[in-house]
Amino acid sequence: MTTLPQSHNSIPNPGNGAVEHNHHAAKKPKLGHPISDSEIREEFSHHQRGVARINNGSFGSCPRSVLAAQSACQLRFLQQPDEFFFNVLRGGILESRTTVADLINADHVDRIALVDNATTAAAIVLQQIGRRFVRGHFRREDSVIMFHCAYQAVKKSIEAYVTPIGGTIVEVQLPFPVRSDEEIVTEFKKGIEKGKLNGGRVRLAIIDHITSMPSVVLPVRELIKICREQGVEQIFVDGAHAIGSLPVDVKEIGADFYVSNLYKWFFSPPSVAFLYCKENSNDVHHPIVSQEYGKGLPVESAWVGMRDYSPQLVVPSILEFVNRFEGGIEGIMQRNHDAVVKMGTMLAESWGTILGSPPEMCAGMIMVGLPSKLCVMCDDDALRLRSYLRVYHAIEVPVYYQVLRNDDRDPRDKDGFITGYVRISHQVYNTVDDYQRLKTAINKLLEDGKICSGLPTE
Ligand SMILES: Cc1ncc(COP(=O)(O)O)c(C=O)c1O
Repeated sequence: MTTLPQSHNSIPNPGNGAVEHNHHAAKKPKLGHPISDSEIREEFSHHQRGVARINNGSFGSCPRSVLAAQSACQLRFLQQPDEFFFNVLRGGILESRTTVADLINADHVDRIALVDNATTAAAIVLQQIGRRFVRGHFRREDSVIMFHCAYQAVKKSIEAYVTPIGGTIVEVQLPFPVRSDEEIVTEFKKGIEKGKLNGGRVRLAIIDHITSMPSVVLPVRELIKICREQGVEQIFVDGAHAIGSLPVDVKEIGADFYVSNLYKWFFSPPSVAFLYCKENSNDVHHPIVSQEYGKGLPVESAWVGMRDYSPQLVVPSILEFVNRFEGGIEGIMQRNHDAVVKMGTMLAESWGTILGSPPEMCAGMIMVGLPSKLCVMCDDDALRLRSYLRVYHAIEVPVYYQVLRNDDRDPRDKDGFITGYVRISHQVYNTVDDYQRLKTAINKLLEDGKICSGLPTE
C-alpha cells in the first residue's frame, strides 16, 4: 500500500475552519502498535479487487472485524431469540447510544436515538413540523428554509410532509464553486429575509453540515447563530456525512436536531444513524409506530417491529476498530482530509482545472473540476461519465454537473468553462493508485478527443 504523506491542513471544525480538540472522542487511544498497512488491507479484503473505490461518501465501508461482531450478534439472536430480546437488545442499544453521546458531546444519552439512516431522521423532524401546521400553530406565510442542494430525500420529505398542508419553502442557492464561508453566509441571510416577507416566520432551517452534491462543509455554527438572531424557530442539521469525517460537538453546534449516518464515515454496517434532539419533546416520534409509541424517541426507535438490530449493536466494536489507528477517529479524519486535498490538488493540476472549494471547506471529500473539453453539459452527461468510469475503468466516483451562472463566478480552464466535477473521497483503505487511475482515465479520454455525450452507456 502506498501511504500518503501528511500535510498541515486541518479539517474544519463545525463551522469556522480551525481544528477542534474536543471532548471524549478525543481520548487518545494507547496503542501498542498502530494498525499496519497489511492489517488495513485485511480489514477491507472483502472489497472487490481491482476497483478504485473513491466514493466512500455514498455508501461508506465496514471493516471485517466489525462485520464479524455483527455476525456474532445475529447468530446470538438466532440461537435464542427470547433471551436476546429480553436480556441483550435494550442494554446493547443503550450502550451504543451512550458511546455516540460521548463521541458527540451530548448532555445526556436520552438525547440520542439510533435510527436507520438520515432519511428516517428527516421524516421524524419534518413530520413534527407538519403536525404543527396541521394544528394551525403556523400560517401559510411560514416557511422551511434550506439550500437548493439539500439532499433529494430531504427535499421530498418537505414535499410530502410540509407543503401539502400549507408551508412555504425558501431555497437558498449555494454558491459553487465556493471560495469562502462569507459567500455562503451572505446568500443564507438573503434567504432568511425572503422567509420574513409578508409577516412570515421561518419555522425550520435545514442546514447540511457537509452538502452531498456538490460537497462543501458549511459554516454551520455561523448559520445557526444567524437563525437564532432572526427568530428561526427550529434548526435541523443534516450531518449525514459528518461523524467520522469532522469533529461533531452537538452542544457547541447548538441545533435542535442533528443527524449523522454512522455507516458513511464511521465504519458501521448498513445501516445506522443517530438523531440528536436538544430537547425532550413528546411531539417527536418515529415514523413507524410500534408498541413503544409514546415512550420517547430513543425507546420508540429501539423497537420498530421485528427486524435485524445488529447494526445498532456493534457501535462499541467500531470504537475498538478506530482506536487501532494513530490518534483514533480524529487521526483518521485528519489523515483522510490531508490525503483528499493532496489527491484533489494532484488531479486539478494534471487536468488544468480547479478545486470546487478551498481545502478548509472540505473534510474527507473534495470536488475537482473536470476539463471543459469533456463537455459535461447536463446531468445525463455526468451520469454517463460516472457509468463509463465504473464499467470501463473500474473506478467508482460520482460526477456532478454545475450549470453556468453567466457571471464572474463561472470558472474556466484553457479551453472553456468548467461545468463538470468529480467528488473524490478518501478513506483508510485508499491508495494513491486509486486516484492515479482516475487521472489517467480522464487524460486518455482527452487524448482520444472523446466528449461525454459520445461515451458508451454500458
Ligand atoms: C446530505 C445527505 N443527507 C441525507 C442523506 C440520506 O442518507 P440515507 O440514504 O442514509 O438516508 C444523504 C445520503 O448520502 C446525504 O448525503
